[in-house]
Amino acid sequence: MKKVVTVFGATGQQGGSVVRALLEQPDNFHVRAVTRNPTSPKSLALRAAGCQLVQAELAQTESLIPILQGADCCFLVTRPPVKMVQEEAAKDEYQYGMNVANACMAVGLPHLMFTTLPNCEKITGAAVPWSDSKARIAEYFKEKGLPLTAITLPDFYENYLSVLKPQKVEDDVYNLEIPTGEQAYSLINISYLGEAVRHIITHRDEYINKDITLATDRLTVGEIADIMNTHLQPMGKTVRNAEFTLDQTREKYKHRAGIEDLVNWYKFILAGPADPQYEEYKDIELGRKLMPSAKSFDEWIRENKEALAAALS
Ligand SMILES: NC(=O)c1ccc[n+]([C@@H]2O[C@H](COP(=O)([O-])OP(=O)(O)OC[C@H]3O[C@@H](n4cnc5c(N)ncnc54)[C@H](OP(=O)(O)O)[C@@H]3O)[C@@H](O)[C@H]2O)c1
Repeated sequence: MKKVVTVFGATGQQGGSVVRALLEQPDNFHVRAVTRNPTSPKSLALRAAGCQLVQAELAQTESLIPILQGADCCFLVTRPPVKMVQEEAAKDEYQYGMNVANACMAVGLPHLMFTTLPNCEKITGAAVPWSDSKARIAEYFKEKGLPLTAITLPDFYENYLSVLKPQKVEDDVYNLEIPTGEQAYSLINISYLGEAVRHIITHRDEYINKDITLATDRLTVGEIADIMNTHLQPMGKTVRNAEFTLDQTREKYKHRAGIEDLVNWYKFILAGPADPQYEEYKDIELGRKLMPSAKSFDEWIRENKEALAAALS
């Protein structure tokens, strides 16, 4: 009997990875791919690949019930709406979580998987709205007694081609401006998240009512710069660890909405394994076990060095 899986964020990074992994086993899974826009090119590609496209909006509970009705499992990723005031966006995101909880209870969903983030405010005293909101959603799901697997995710490797890419300082020299000092932090090759999700769906009893953390590498910013140089220097490009401080981050991005939230995120990382979920290297052990195709950061940069070089220029 095929398991029916409703996948939120199917046109995005996390949900897209889940869809790909489930479609590899068409005899085992029927995929309901959720989108707000079923006529977008990404949605149409999902339909062509074998998904059932379903339309829903996390802000509207009534749109959530039919897409969860009769499903064996739901993979949920939330994204706060784009707003200037991050606290307001986080409130909306929390409301999305409450809407999903109501819909899950209405249909008696057997298994909800939710990718969450740490409650930084609880851990360090410094609020990070887009992280804390996800932790609060997971707490809400537990309070409501939903059959939950909460998956805490670290930063994605893929960010290093975009928002975290080294910044040009002169021709062919780039600064990595990440204010995490000597503190190693976890990372994940998010393209393979789907392998872990597929495993968890098929081993429901082992993972139900559990909090897990998945990662596939852990590095300091200096180690990240060294790895980039190993692959980029033969191409004539050098990356320097700029040894950025929190104050430099604040100054450089002072015009960006939510800069203090970003600084607080780095404070959380600098606090090290303050979060009990981030037990030393347990996340990597589990991530590599459940995501066997995931790459180390070094392998990933080797595979993506052309894309990184192109992103830098
Ligand atoms: N980047 C990182 O390092 C990192 C690390 C940990 C966690 N996260 C979290 O990951 C989340 C984003 O995940 P992602 O990168 O996989 O997303 P993404 O690639 O940006 O795609 C967003 C997905 O969410 C769907 N979506 C957005 N708003 C929606 C709404 N109101 N109702 C229904 N669907 C909605 C979109 O679907 P349609 O447009 O097709 O409707 C799209 O599939 C963020 O919340 C972020 O905080 C990021």
